[in-house]
Amino acid sequence: MSFTATVGRREVPCGQDQPMLDAFLRAGVWMPNSCNQGTCGTCKVRVVDGAVDHRDSPADTLTDDERAAGLALACQARLRSNVVVETAGGAGRATHPLRDLAATVREIQDIARDTRRLRLGLSEPLAFHAGQYVELTVPGTGVRRQYSLVNTAEEDKVLELHVRLVPGGAATEQWIFAGLAVGEQVQVTGPLGDFFLPPADEDDGGPMVLIGGGTGLAPLIGLARTALSRDPAREIRLYHGVRGAADLYDLDLMAELADSCPGFTFLPVLSHEPESSTYRTGFPTDCFLEDVRSARGWSGWLCGPPPMVDAGVKAFKRRRMAPRMIHRENFTPAAT
Ligand code: FES
Repeated sequence: MSFTATVGRREVPCGQDQPMLDAFLRAGVWMPNSCNQGTCGTCKVRVVDGAVDHRDSPADTLTDDERAAGLALACQARLRSNVVVETAGGAGRATHPLRDLAATVREIQDIARDTRRLRLGLSEPLAFHAGQYVELTVPGTGVRRQYSLVNTAEEDKVLELHVRLVPGGAATEQWIFAGLAVGEQVQVTGPLGDFFLPPADEDDGGPMVLIGGGTGLAPLIGLARTALSRDPAREIRLYHGVRGAADLYDLDLMAELADSCPGFTFLPVLSHEPESSTYRTGFPTDCFLEDVRSARGWSGWLCGPPPMVDAGVKAFKRRRMAPRMIHRENFTPAAT
C-alpha cells in the first residue's frame, strides 16, 4: 500500500518502502537534504499529521525526545499513513527531479596518488546544480556510494567524478580501482544535496572562499567555474588541502582559471610536507586565517572530512562571515 506525503501545497505519492525524501525529490519537490544516509540531520521534518516508521534513523541524529516531539529524518522515514510535514528552508518549491540513469564509462584516469577521474556518458542529460552529488550503484551488491559532480550545470551529458581509494572499500578498492573498465555500464542516481549556489538572479556576487580537502576539490571546481561564468572578475579564493604534493591534481586547470579570471586565486596547501619550498604548508583553514583579515560579506564553501569542515566553520566565523553564508559538504563514512 502506498500513501501520500504533503509539504505546503505539494502532495506526492510515496511507496511502501520508499524514503519520504526520495519520494519528494523524484517528484521534483525540494526538501533540504545533504548526506541522504541519516547522519547530517539536514532533512529533519516535523510530522504534524500521520505516522512514520523511523527505520534506521540513528539515535544521535534523531534523539528519542525529537521522535516524541514528532520529528523525523525524511531520508530514512517510511510512511505508515498519509502524512503532512513541515520543514524550513524552502521545502515544497520545484527542483531538478531525482532520477536513475544508465551511464557508460568513457574514461578512467589516475590523476593523483590513490585518486581517479571517472567520466561517465549518460543515456540522456541530467539536470542538476553545480556542487550537487550523485550516487553510483556497485554492480551486483546494491551498495551505493556518493560522489560530487565536478561539472557545471551546462555539462549535463558527461559527468566527471573524482574518486579517492578507500582501503577495503566496496566501491573503490573492490570496483573502481579493480575491475571497472571503459565501456562498462554504471547506474547513476541523482542529483542530491544542497551544496550549490543560489540562482543567478539571487546571487549577490560577493567574494567567495572555497576550501576542499582531497577530492573535496571536486564540487568546488564546478562552483567556482559557475560563479566565474556569471562574473569573471569575482573575487574567489580556492584552497586545496592535501597531505603531500603527490595528492595534488588539476593544477593546469586552476592555472588557466587564474590566468583568465583576475579575481581567482588557487592555493594548494600540504599538511604533511613541512619542508616544501613550492607550496604552502599546514592546514588550509589556517592559511585562510593568515590571508584574510575580514570575511564580512563573503560566502564560504567547505567540502571534505568533518574535522576540516568544522575547522573551516570556526575560521569563517572568526573572520566575521555570517553563518547563513557558510555552506558545508561533509565526507561522511559510507552507511553499511
Ligand atoms: S540525515 Fe537525511 S539528508 Fe542527512
